[in-house]
Amino acid sequence: MSFASLWRELEPLGRDPGTGGYRRYSWTPADAACRAWFTRQAEQLGLAVEPDNNGNLWAWWGAARENARDGAARDGAIVTGSHLDSVPDGGGYDGALGVASALAAVEELKARNFNPERALAIALMTEEEGARFRVPCLGSRLMTGAIEPDAARALSDDDGVTLAAAMAAVGCDPSLLGPRADLLASLAAFVELHVEQGRALAPMGAVIGVAEAIWPHGRWRLDFGGRADHAGTARFADRNDPMLPYASTVLAARQIAAERGALATFGKIIASPGGANGVSSSVRAWLDTRAPDEGTLEKTVTAIRSAAGDAAAAHGVTLTVRQESYTPLVRFDENLRDRITGVLAGAGMPVPSLPTGAGHDAGVLAARVPTAMLFVRNPTGVSHSPAEHADPADCEAGVHALALVLADLAARP
Ligand code: GLV
Ligand code: MN
Ligand code: MN
Repeated sequence: MSFASLWRELEPLGRDPGTGGYRRYSWTPADAACRAWFTRQAEQLGLAVEPDNNGNLWAWWGAARENARDGAARDGAIVTGSHLDSVPDGGGYDGALGVASALAAVEELKARNFNPERALAIALMTEEEGARFRVPCLGSRLMTGAIEPDAARALSDDDGVTLAAAMAAVGCDPSLLGPRADLLASLAAFVELHVEQGRALAPMGAVIGVAEAIWPHGRWRLDFGGRADHAGTARFADRNDPMLPYASTVLAARQIAAERGALATFGKIIASPGGANGVSSSVRAWLDTRAPDEGTLEKTVTAIRSAAGDAAAAHGVTLTVRQESYTPLVRFDENLRDRITGVLAGAGMPVPSLPTGAGHDAGVLAARVPTAMLFVRNPTGVSHSPAEHADPADCEAGVHALALVLADLAARP
């Protein structure tokens, strides 16, 4: 089983034939196909696959897993992995590259008869994108206690299906959701390989990078409430059209964020009732904001909320704003990063350190476990899009780099 053959099998799962993008939403048939693929590949490698109580899958390397369980090496497991869920019409590499590379790296280690002294596992994390239930990195947030189990169970998708119902429908018990201090305490390091999102490595002539930090970021839901009316008869002066303050807010957000070196994006909007010949009764929109530091993020969001409030008032429209998720600034473990950089430099691979504006489970786990990330060059930088790409040779280099890192971490304290 080479990386190329793993990739060939994974590639068609959950891909929309019309757009070429992926729709791998958690707890759907596409997600089940991805989980089945992961389980099959891990078992072929001799790994034992176990679900945890939060919907993540863990594939443990044979005897090492027994060590991790009996307490002798509970403080020593080395974990790699990523996610297989996607954003709407996402690219093929975001998450998937880390999972396929983890499997291929373990295969590389097994092929050279490497015998890990520490427990070694591949984690398949659930709902990393928050595309269905709107809270990203849900699997790692639940594990670390960053979200209350009751709040998670009550999250609902756009059709009103709760996370609890979606899990129960596929035979997973949502009453078990909750923090796993025991599992976290058994991990010595988590290393997530990921396709680069952005384009920093290509101009540097580097294939692999390591993560330095993740910008703080969050999502806010804005509900503009107006009054439905007739597009052909309601005079402008008589309208309470929620689309207008929404439109002003989009433009204001862009300017406010740009002035502060932050990013603000409206990528999802639901206009109700959705008639082409009517004024909307409401507009629900989601704002994603990210900034280099938490103070700038807070100021950016406050200014956008204030601009939205002013625009709503000017049009006789109500506004409510709700924070749906928040991730503080993450700085990855410096010792682990130095060790990884040293291992790869020793193998002739210089690896620059990069900050990123993208969220990752590694970022959430970093609050509890020494964590690192490897980025594989993305020649265009495009991500969250069917155009996302990494060259096959770079993917192979990523697998090799990950295998070197895992071998180093799993071989000695
Ligand atoms: C995940 O990819 C995110 O940064 O939103
Ligand atoms: Mn993503
Ligand atoms: Mn990702």
